[in-house]
Amino acid sequence: LCPDCASAGPRSRFHFPRKMTDTRRVHAVRGELIHFTADPADAGDAALTHLPDGVMLIVDGLISESGPAEAMLAKLPADTRITDYRGKLILPGFVDTHIHYAQTDIIASYGEQLLAWLEKYTFPTEARFSDPEHAGEVADFFCDELLRNGTTTALAFATVHPASVDALFEAAWQRSMRMIAGKVLMDRNCPDYLADTADTGYTDSKALIEKWHGCDRLLYAVTPRFAPTSTREQMALAGRLFAEHPGVYLQSHVAENRGEVAWVAELYPEARSYLDVYERYGQLGERSVYAHCIWLDETDRERMASTGSAMSFCPTSNLFLGSGLFDLDRAHALGVRVGIGTDVGGGTSFSMLQTLNEAYKVLQLNGQRLSAERAFYLATLGGARSLYLDDRIGNFAPGKEADFVVIDPAATPLFARRMAATTSLSERLFVLMMLGDDRCVAATHILGECAFEAGTT
Ligand code: GUN
Ligand code: ZN
Repeated sequence: LCPDCASAGPRSRFHFPRKMTDTRRVHAVRGELIHFTADPADAGDAALTHLPDGVMLIVDGLISESGPAEAMLAKLPADTRITDYRGKLILPGFVDTHIHYAQTDIIASYGEQLLAWLEKYTFPTEARFSDPEHAGEVADFFCDELLRNGTTTALAFATVHPASVDALFEAAWQRSMRMIAGKVLMDRNCPDYLADTADTGYTDSKALIEKWHGCDRLLYAVTPRFAPTSTREQMALAGRLFAEHPGVYLQSHVAENRGEVAWVAELYPEARSYLDVYERYGQLGERSVYAHCIWLDETDRERMASTGSAMSFCPTSNLFLGSGLFDLDRAHALGVRVGIGTDVGGGTSFSMLQTLNEAYKVLQLNGQRLSAERAFYLATLGGARSLYLDDRIGNFAPGKEADFVVIDPAATPLFARRMAATTSLSERLFVLMMLGDDRCVAATHILGECAFEAGTT
């Protein structure tokens, strides 16, 4: 029997998962509803929908309808279960488009830029994931930490060990979270104890895709760590995995650090640019997501736009590792999909609010602006679009999965004081992204059901 759905055979996407059946009920939430139906950079004020006192009706874990409380309450059956979040803000769950679950324990490690940081901190901590028990313990902590921060969907790196992927998917599945993840492919320029081979990388990834991709809310991402740690043979097989499994993702890093860019030019002298290495091996396209994208040129950005690839902007990591300043304006001008990534553990916070705070500052240093509306769009619908999941998540449109975060505008004395002095929604959202963090998250709901509530754990 499948352990997940109690039907015959191994775990499979064709089985109706037990977790989904748990959410087959009608439920409503009431509070201040805020979500986006477009990019404010394109649609202006019309991009944002705001119901100061709204009710959202959820049926079988999906959003059925939302509207002003008075009208909604008048038509709901009297016995409808309503969770009352009046006085709180309700936003779509945050979408983290780049994070490493296995780096949870090295967040805030002192003093290096990318390549030395990988050697000194990252590889030793990732080595510990050869132990499935350790992987399971970290995966549970990681998923709980995402929920504590209002993040309901993530695109995550595991480690080179296939069992590290099992551990993360198990943990996400138990919480009914949307998780996209994959086994790191890495067959050179890394310690022997962390290397796979081109062949084992391919076959292990293929087996993981068959086991997990499309099971409940879980999706697989082919995960070449970055061009320097894969041989040409492995890069070709990664592209093959991506091509052979329609609907599967591909995630990697590109153009993060200047030393890294110079190294790639030495390793792949035949390529026009760092990004071109990935393109040569069939790794650009819809559902491919590249973290950082700092040291790109116009051709690179144009290639990302025209192939439908996405950029994950990771501001806390880019500042912490001294990598550089992301160019949001150029990405937008060329029509590239952009989401936000925390990049824990190169990034310094699981909080998307703190990440938006630093995104604002990175763009300030780069002579660009980031309105609060745009920032929250990027953390929700923008992230969903960059993952091609905007038909499922990202806002409160009817039919979408009811993943949302409940924000307490009075969470701390300073936050309450500053919020009380605001005069517009725009200003409140800006205060939220500049002063907010996990302390502001009152609750996080997955498929309508409360998965985290402040003060209860
Ligand atoms: N490039 C290759 N691996 C990594 C990693 O683990 N973190 C970051 N930030 N960049 C990388
Ligand atoms: Zn990363």
